[in-house]
Amino acid sequence: MRPNVALSPIDVSWHNHSARHPADRTDIRYPVTIVLLDEYLAQATALEQELGERLNAVEPGLRTDALKGNLKDWRLRLDDLQRAITAVPAESRREAGAALNALKRHFDSSITAYENRSASGATALAIDHTMPARERWRGGLHPVTLVIDEIREIFRELGFTVAVGPEAETEWHNFTALNFPAEHPAMDLHDTLYVDEGVLLRTHTSPVQIRVMQEYAPPVRVLVPGTVYRRDFFDASHAPAFAQIEGLAVDEGVTFVDLKATLTTFAKRFFGSARTRFRPSFFPFTEPSAEMDVECQLCGGSGCAGCKQSGWMEILGSGMVHPNVLTAAGVDAERYTGWAFGMGPARIAMLRYGIPDIRVLYESDMRFLRQVNR
Ligand code: DAH
Repeated sequence: MRPNVALSPIDVSWHNHSARHPADRTDIRYPVTIVLLDEYLAQATALEQELGERLNAVEPGLRTDALKGNLKDWRLRLDDLQRAITAVPAESRREAGAALNALKRHFDSSITAYENRSASGATALAIDHTMPARERWRGGLHPVTLVIDEIREIFRELGFTVAVGPEAETEWHNFTALNFPAEHPAMDLHDTLYVDEGVLLRTHTSPVQIRVMQEYAPPVRVLVPGTVYRRDFFDASHAPAFAQIEGLAVDEGVTFVDLKATLTTFAKRFFGSARTRFRPSFFPFTEPSAEMDVECQLCGGSGCAGCKQSGWMEILGSGMVHPNVLTAAGVDAERYTGWAFGMGPARIAMLRYGIPDIRVLYESDMRFLRQVNR
């Protein structure tokens, strides 16, 4: 319902004292209404009162433009009242104008008051700006990944590039080409996870040696990180899937001196001043073969449970690439020689971070990962 502001038409005969009043103007031909001051003030008061009631009825938290939209009809009536001021007799117009202006100011301040009320209400309800922030942890790298990255970086400086191979591998690449005799126990179903006839989950990264040599002519210097699989149950020192890093260098005139010098340099870079030693060993794909030990990182070489009182920990297997392996991969074994190594970064991570049980590396326990990534 729209109350009429341009109000009751009345007889203007009493009003002809004002020459400027529309009622006295001869150029105005339509019926002229005039508004008495009392009427005008009453309208202003009514509008003010209605504004108060409506603002009280509006739920808090409305955006200002929504609130103003809500009050649009009220604003239109305020405009009507403003226009009606010309209908007020001249001598009363000043007072009517003052009332009009007061009403406009009241409207503005009411809106502001509503906004403040909403803002303080929202603050109290939803956000406590004094509350300490919750600490955020953006995640970090797994200790084995950290170790692999570090090893890669050291070998990168020594001239090695990175190569990768498939995890589902042929029996030929995984065993035969690496000079394993056909009846070797590693090929047994008890040790190796077969996918299909002649296809298996690689048991080591060594088959990538073959793939690299098949693809690239010497000189070759590659580092091969990757996951390998064995038919083992989880215990403190075994996992059925784990990371390995393979290394291979093939060129004319490569000798055991290169092997020993490179691996010793690596160990010095990785373990600092720790001593290293080589022990004779056996692998089908190397001849001669050697295992490298590093001074026990837990006891410093004096002997502890970790190193079974020996003072040493084995970190890798290595050797001169067997001529049969070079030949199988299509490399001229008369002209070229090579050396290779393989190591388990999980084992090295356990040494470095003092981790007693390999299973911790697979549990994704945030409390553990957080300690490593400090
Ligand atoms: N492939 C071996 C293993 O899984 C590790 C190894 C030993 C790799 C000697 C080599 C090597 O390249 O020369 O136990």
